[in-house]
Amino acid sequence: MGKTLRILAATALAALLATTSACSKTRSDDNAGGGGDSGPALVGIAMPTRSLERWNNDGAHLEDLLKKAGYKTSLQYADNKVDQQITQLQNMINDKAKILVIASIDGTALAPVLQQAADKKVKVIAYDRLINASPNVDYYATFDNYKVGQLQGQFIVSKLGLDAGKGPFNLEPFAGSSDDNNAKFFFAGAWDVLKQYVDSGKLVIPSGKKLASNDDWKTVSINGWKTEGAQAEMDNRLNSFYTGGKKVDVVLSPNDSLALGIAQSLDSHGYKPGGDWPVLTGQDADLANTKNILAGKQSMTVWKDTRTLGDQVAKMVDAISKGTAVETNDTKTYNNGVKVVPSYLLPPVVVTKDDVKSKLVDSGFFKASDLGL
Ligand code: GAL
Repeated sequence: MGKTLRILAATALAALLATTSACSKTRSDDNAGGGGDSGPALVGIAMPTRSLERWNNDGAHLEDLLKKAGYKTSLQYADNKVDQQITQLQNMINDKAKILVIASIDGTALAPVLQQAADKKVKVIAYDRLINASPNVDYYATFDNYKVGQLQGQFIVSKLGLDAGKGPFNLEPFAGSSDDNNAKFFFAGAWDVLKQYVDSGKLVIPSGKKLASNDDWKTVSINGWKTEGAQAEMDNRLNSFYTGGKKVDVVLSPNDSLALGIAQSLDSHGYKPGGDWPVLTGQDADLANTKNILAGKQSMTVWKDTRTLGDQVAKMVDAISKGTAVETNDTKTYNNGVKVVPSYLLPPVVVTKDDVKSKLVDSGFFKASDLGL
């Protein structure tokens, strides 16, 4: 969607929300157990951390939309600390929030606080990451997480020509944080594409990581999605298993924060862009990584336009407030261990050097000057 169209859509959305939230003042109170007209509904927005680029965009965009629509908001970041996030949620509940929008750090740790929310008729939307092991999650909005992994796997297959019988190639796989429900889906999507080539010997894993099935993803996960964690792990693998001129040909990185650390490790081990630099995947279209893509130090990223996720969640908030039907498009995939949570999945998109401008700049996600273009 071009920049102008995006701005028009956002303005239209804010105007639409504004009309409904104005009248949601009373209805949401009634619906959500508030007594009478106590002013605009409070929406609590809980984000995991500011240290991973995308969540800053997610939080700011959603808060901006909801404020423009007349809601009160409480936007909180929890520095990737689970206890801090639980305390923030408790404070939002005590402050009479009507709706909680939660991008959880550890989706398995929130059942008790969500019970407190339910006891006060507070509605809960899981944002980007599913919340597990609780009946008190009303809706889930995210990107198609399994597809993200598939796109990374398919990119590797076509880039290396594996589907044309090329190989063998040296692969190093990574997975995301072990406490993140999404990481499981990213890995499964990629491994369902790549495993056949590992089994056929066209892809070899010199570090010896055993990934007999998707359930083994935690053996290659990097906790907290930390850049420095990925760099240290890649350093270790290159030092231990890539001696005597052996080169890594491809690295499966589930997202950009890890890809950045992996690129720093490759740099320090003398790999050259345009020369022996391996195929390297990513996700999120972080600024530094998009620059690396332009510099040949990363091959692709899976872009998830966080503005569209914010737009969809703002619509969900509004429908909940006015008691109308909440739009979902997947009522099968996301079973959180207690129930299948009705979900809205958005499409992820591959971005390479060739379409950074047409996809990320022309849509207004980045300014050309941000990228030195
Ligand atoms: C995932 C999210 C990704 C990536 C990662 C680290 O849950 O879906 O987009 O950002 O967390 O923040």
